[in-house]
Amino acid sequence: MKLKKTNAKRIQNPKTIFFLTSNKSKFKEAEKILNKFGIKIISKNSKGIEIQSNSLEEIARVCAKKAYESLKRPLIVEDSGLFIDSLKGFPGPYSSYVLKTVGCKGILDLLGQKRRRSAKFIAVVAYASKNKIKIFKGVVNGKISKKIFKGKGFGYDPIFIPNGYSKPFSILYSIKEKISHRALAFEKLGKYLKGE
Ligand code: IMP
Repeated sequence: MKLKKTNAKRIQNPKTIFFLTSNKSKFKEAEKILNKFGIKIISKNSKGIEIQSNSLEEIARVCAKKAYESLKRPLIVEDSGLFIDSLKGFPGPYSSYVLKTVGCKGILDLLGQKRRRSAKFIAVVAYASKNKIKIFKGVVNGKISKKIFKGKGFGYDPIFIPNGYSKPFSILYSIKEKISHRALAFEKLGKYLKGE
């Protein structure tokens, strides 16, 4: 079978990009999306590049810049978080720390019986290549459940119910792959790289 020239080129020479993360679940989700665009990612430990900031974009941008300066090859840094409206956006950029300390239960305790439970996940992807950093953002709106569900996934997946559904991401795992903040941000990156 004869391959079209563009496809043949992509198959012989897929783009290979480092994804700086130690989170295997994040990596798998990103890999699935970018594979659709013929882009291969390699996981690389992100230790030593993290900075503290209230802005996901600043964290992702500065880390990507620092990492590019030392690795000198195309790479991705992603920073994400859960923003709960009635907690004024908490835990936001501190999501990872809050999960490690008080976990999903701590979030449910903080919300108590509050009726206003709206929240969103945001992912910011910074792609660093020669002389530039490009930022791609994905957002998914939803609400915090009243109990911790079982299922697949990681982090706050057992308590985040996306709008339009009645179960959390940990149960709706195949839907998460299509509508999550991460899926949306990586889809934008994939389209950008395809057109690059
Ligand atoms: P960071 O991007 O490494 O700072 O971590 C973000 C934190 O937000 C993760 O450790 C999770 O606690 C949470 N988080 C981000 N994305 C997701 C998701 O897709 N599902 C569940 N929790 C998430």
